[in-house]
Amino acid sequence: MTILIRGGTVVSATGSALTDVLVDGERIVALVEPGSTALGSNLAAAAARVIDATGRYVIPGGVDCHTHMDLPFGGTSSSDTFETGTRAAAWGGTTTIIDFAVQFKGERVQDGLAAWHEKAAGQCAIDYGFHQIIGDVNDESLKAMDELVAEGITSVKLFTAYPGVYYSDDGQLLRAMQVAARNGAVVMMHAENGPAIDVLREQALSRGETAPVHHGLTRPWETEAEATHRVLMLAQVTGAPLYVVHMSARQAVAALQAYRDQGFNVFGETCPQYLYLSLEDQLSRPGFEGAAWVCSPPLRPRAEGHQDELWKYLRTNDLQVVSTDHCPFCMKEQKDRGIGDFTKIPNGLGTVEHRLDLVYQGVVDGRITKERWVELCSTTPARMFGLYGRKGVIEPGADADLVVYDPNGHTSIGIGVGRTHHMNMDHSSWEGFEVDGHVDTVLSRGTVVVDDGAYVGAKGHGRYQKRALCQYLT
Ligand code: URP
Ligand code: ZN
Ligand code: ZN
Repeated sequence: MTILIRGGTVVSATGSALTDVLVDGERIVALVEPGSTALGSNLAAAAARVIDATGRYVIPGGVDCHTHMDLPFGGTSSSDTFETGTRAAAWGGTTTIIDFAVQFKGERVQDGLAAWHEKAAGQCAIDYGFHQIIGDVNDESLKAMDELVAEGITSVKLFTAYPGVYYSDDGQLLRAMQVAARNGAVVMMHAENGPAIDVLREQALSRGETAPVHHGLTRPWETEAEATHRVLMLAQVTGAPLYVVHMSARQAVAALQAYRDQGFNVFGETCPQYLYLSLEDQLSRPGFEGAAWVCSPPLRPRAEGHQDELWKYLRTNDLQVVSTDHCPFCMKEQKDRGIGDFTKIPNGLGTVEHRLDLVYQGVVDGRITKERWVELCSTTPARMFGLYGRKGVIEPGADADLVVYDPNGHTSIGIGVGRTHHMNMDHSSWEGFEVDGHVDTVLSRGTVVVDDGAYVGAKGHGRYQKRALCQYLT
């Protein structure tokens, strides 16, 4: 089927221009100057469908490189399945997710990965790939890292947090990084000092401090900055490419910036929650309400000045990506496991549907350009994780993953489950949020999956994406 997207402004990481986009089957086949007759005198008449994008932007579909669908955590599992989570992502203009397959302690990496393939196969509304969490670094799992690269899983996640669960000690981190330095995999790091945080948590509980706010107070910025410094140094020792996930503390990003300035292959992402939400406004709400915003790293005190700095680092390319770390839990029967003990609240927020709109608000507020918005949400994540060319770009030969975005639209993202969001949550992490801009129409590999705001996609349309190595490395 041929589709002509006509009259819109194509926004890419490098510029914007009035351009018509011709799609044939699953691919983009031509970019045409409006009025050009080079491909025939009436392209619109020849196309099976014409989508009018007049007054709107046409951008490459969003690539959310950090999601957790159906993730076992804290005695329960994140509440979005691959079916519900990818459908919500499509609604919000994201056409590719990269989720984290997990190797649990005592498990073979291959078995953990197989379990994730099973969860996702035939379920997804949009395309998907995997990173691999190595939760048990040992001789066997280190060997498996080579197999992963061969299978298109070119990034692994390690943790300095969560002792007893995903945590690796410094020796394990070093060994995994040595393998990555050799085989080219990107090491993604959850950088918080887990053992120190565990002591602070025990001490808080022994003082009777059980409310959700203590989740944030026992994970101070120093614990993120210390772990970030440490893993940057281990990356220097080993030469491994390093990507620090969900950065929330300005001091941690300052450390990353210093290593980038020295020319190391180190990168970082932040997430909308760290750009907008704060410990004071959310985590400190009365009673148990703050549990809705328990995530790690935690929402930080506004007074510490992280948010303006994170936006600055996004502008200066010291942070390269905005992902969501989508890991939703309902309040009922999930977050409420932590009533009376904040350490039992499952960690995570749901944002996969709102990332494009929330980051676009940064364009409206004058913090970033619209081209940088596309770069942060689509082009760079595609390139960072070996999908660029197929994803993250509007050019002939690329997958026709396209979003028609109305810059003058408006989105109420935080009220009414099922009305303003479609994630499988009984609340919204974004309650009360009103933002400018609106996702109107979304194509995934040439198939319209959101048509003028209505979901028309299908479970199983999404295809597994093998990934190449990081395209920023020489
Ligand atoms: O709170 C979070 N971030 N939950 C998801 C798991 C992780 O650490 O990324
Ligand atoms: Zn993490
Ligand atoms: Zn995560």
